[in-house]
Amino acid sequence: MIESSANIEFKPRLRYGMVGGGQGSFIGDVHRKSIALDGMAEIAAGCFSRSADNTLATGAALGIKRERLYATYEEMAEEESKRADKIDFVVIVTPNYAHYGAAKAFLSRGIPVVCDKPLCIEASEARELQELAEKNKLLFCVTYTYSGNPAVKHGKALIKKGEIGKIHFITGEYPQEWLLAPSEKQGNKQAVWRTDPKLAGKSNSVGDLGSHIENLVHYFTGLKIKSLCARLDKIGPGRVLDDNATIMVEYDNGAKGVYWSSQVASGYDNALKVRIFGDKGAVEFNEEECNYIKFSQFGKPTTVLSRGRDPFDPHAQGFSRIPSGHPEGYFEALANIYKTFITALAKQKEGKPLTEDDLDFPTVEDGLNGVVFIGKCVESSDKGAVWVNL
Ligand SMILES: NC(=O)c1ccc[n+]([C@@H]2O[C@H](COP(=O)([O-])OP(=O)(O)OC[C@H]3O[C@@H](n4cnc5c(N)ncnc54)[C@H](O)[C@@H]3O)[C@@H](O)[C@H]2O)c1
Repeated sequence: MIESSANIEFKPRLRYGMVGGGQGSFIGDVHRKSIALDGMAEIAAGCFSRSADNTLATGAALGIKRERLYATYEEMAEEESKRADKIDFVVIVTPNYAHYGAAKAFLSRGIPVVCDKPLCIEASEARELQELAEKNKLLFCVTYTYSGNPAVKHGKALIKKGEIGKIHFITGEYPQEWLLAPSEKQGNKQAVWRTDPKLAGKSNSVGDLGSHIENLVHYFTGLKIKSLCARLDKIGPGRVLDDNATIMVEYDNGAKGVYWSSQVASGYDNALKVRIFGDKGAVEFNEEECNYIKFSQFGKPTTVLSRGRDPFDPHAQGFSRIPSGHPEGYFEALANIYKTFITALAKQKEGKPLTEDDLDFPTVEDGLNGVVFIGKCVESSDKGAVWVNL
């Protein structure tokens, strides 16, 4: 057991606003709780829903002043940008269709953005957001949650140090079972928009789950996908978008890989697993056991390294809050992304230079990579599962 690395130094309290995340929604509240974990920012404004009543009720429950509750994100961006006590950043947690418009509204008024994945629907929109953020020198985080796990950060450090050698093959799988039921026809809000192309975009299972695999593999290895061949299946009766997908990929270093995303895999809750194989060894991460990372070197016994107990890379260890054996998970991983992003934002406000570690959060470039990946998977599948270049 090790001491926890709880940080009790002075931390700047920034203000943030939220678009989406109204009562009855899923991820917005997870973001609020994850931000609250380190007390580095507090919520000050919101447009939580397209329903004004929901926004008012959510805002009242969160103790936000009535004058900072807005009917649309456009109005929120405009009014907040004029205030002396304006929000320091905005968090966008709507279904995918509104990400681009909301992010553009805030970026063009000088407000940094945190947006959930996928960044948006069209690659051209993602490039526009990237250019806008660069032009206005604004930090932009896309919350691919799983790279916030200390075990993932340690795995990345092992790979970077060459401990598994030259990477030659990668597998990524992300099975869930919840859409085996026709949930979208039974009023499940999260299922309704994920299965509707007007709200979700071009893909369901690749957009929702496959994009996490793409980002996590890139985070671990730094490899970029050069070409892919995808088959997207619509297994649930009447589905317009995929709920299962098989994707073969080739990376820029010549390594190969295979990804599988599914929401119709009986017996699986949220079983994201990535295995990275090199010519000296392998690293394996399983989201449902995210306090551990499996590490093997050819010819030696395989080890399962524990967050907290085993010596992790110092950067990775710095993201643990409690000793080993007390599981950390989803909230903490997202909190780690926020801790890094908010610290970078505060440093930037003070005019201090940002280091590579300061920028260890998924960026708008990661968002763009994800949108391109989703689009190319759909293109490949539509053409009959042919290889396409990225
Ligand atoms: N990073 C992750 O692990 C993760 C997990 C789940 C969801 N997500 C992403 O988060 C986003 C939201 O997913 P969810 O499951 O929470 O959806 P949800 O349906 O539960 O919530 C969406 C919220 O956005 C609001 N909304 C919709 N349009 C709006 C608009 N124009 N203006 C203001 N509010 C609006 C809805 O009223 C609702 O409150 C999606 O992009 C999804 O892909 C990411």
